[in-house]
Amino acid sequence: MAREAVLAMLMSMTPQLVDPQTAPEAELWLHHEFWNARRAEVLPDDPPIPWEERLKWMREPAEHTAIRVFAIYDQQQVLGIASADWRTNDTENPDFAWCEVMVAPSHLRRGLGSRLTHALFEEILPLGRKKMFTQTMSNRAGGKPFAEMLGAKFGQEEHTNQLLFSEMNRAYVQHSLEKAPTSEYELLWFDGEYPDDEEVLQKLCDMFAIMNTAPRGDLEFNDWKVTPEKLRQEALEAKKHNQEWWLCVAKHRQTGHFAGFTETGWHHNRPNIAGQYGTGVDPSHRGHGLGAWLKAVMIERILRDRPSVDRIRTGNADSNVPMLKINHSLGFKPFLDRTEWQIDIHKSLEILRAKVLSPAWSV
Ligand SMILES: CC(C)(COP(=O)(O)OP(=O)(O)OC[C@H]1O[C@@H](n2cnc3c(N)ncnc32)[C@H](O)[C@@H]1OP(=O)(O)O)[C@@H](O)C(=O)NCCC(=O)NCCS
Repeated sequence: MAREAVLAMLMSMTPQLVDPQTAPEAELWLHHEFWNARRAEVLPDDPPIPWEERLKWMREPAEHTAIRVFAIYDQQQVLGIASADWRTNDTENPDFAWCEVMVAPSHLRRGLGSRLTHALFEEILPLGRKKMFTQTMSNRAGGKPFAEMLGAKFGQEEHTNQLLFSEMNRAYVQHSLEKAPTSEYELLWFDGEYPDDEEVLQKLCDMFAIMNTAPRGDLEFNDWKVTPEKLRQEALEAKKHNQEWWLCVAKHRQTGHFAGFTETGWHHNRPNIAGQYGTGVDPSHRGHGLGAWLKAVMIERILRDRPSVDRIRTGNADSNVPMLKINHSLGFKPFLDRTEWQIDIHKSLEILRAKVLSPAWSV
């Protein structure tokens, strides 16, 4: 092989550390094209993410967020990316991070995923990261065996479930609205911002902690602590990126307790798709129809006030029986599957070092 060709091949196999906040736009454009191509593989009917939207996310990450990105390039395209991010002020789970590894289908099984992951883990271990969480999808065949190769521990199975309004069970929506316990609970709406009132904010924080009761399978992480500061920061981030959201809270009339909630979000670049985020009911207020009421009332409002939306998507653990019961009754159907994994970085690095640094892998 000619020296230039060997050098070019070596270059193309060497992960490069990229700082999205400072990298030239031309380089980030290649990342943008890579991610939109991957997105189209699983969401062929969804619009691509516009360049301006993605660039803003890359240039202006959320406050208190650390990000590390490695990419492998070939001339004018990205062949693979491994990235990790974590909160630098996370007191509950101070040693973990989320990671994503993705290789272009044209370049699978050539060691790119291993090299990228090796580079990423070598970078972030000294930064105090010990545990990683990641996801794979069955329609990307390499994910599961790759996670197993890394020695990852199975966490749980999940689905994105989707409700097409054209297929909605209107009778169930109506039924949930009619049997709503309105004499015991009243609804409060928060549209894209939280109030300044500290007492209300603290009640919202206590209410969001309900999400710690959602199933987490065999994933090992400590309960999340929601604080007024985190809520304010999330709201600011959403505003900065034009991410709209509505939160509907069920307040117990007698005690003033925030007993349950549901929240949805929406971006004008994807006008027909609403995301259904968390829905939770305090364990001591379950069994009164609050969950179904909150979801039905949110759907009713979306239909009325966001007429461009024709579908809602939500993520649920497959083991979350009560939530799935409501969602399936409304007409949500499985849309995408996901497996969540937990990675011990020390252990995976040993495996990766043995693989990537072996003589067979060096040219
Ligand atoms: C997972 C992914 C990044 C792997 O990239 P890759 O460059 O093909 O991976 P590598 O060539 O480094 O493979 C490393 C090992 O993983 C395993 N593996 C990867 N793909 C596999 C497949 N399709 N079937 C069986 N084993 C596979 C093998 O053990 C392989 O080692 P080997 O080739 O020496 O047998 C790629 O399939 C992908 O982009 N998938 C979609 C995103 C995803 O699921 N990411 C995983 C997050 S952990």
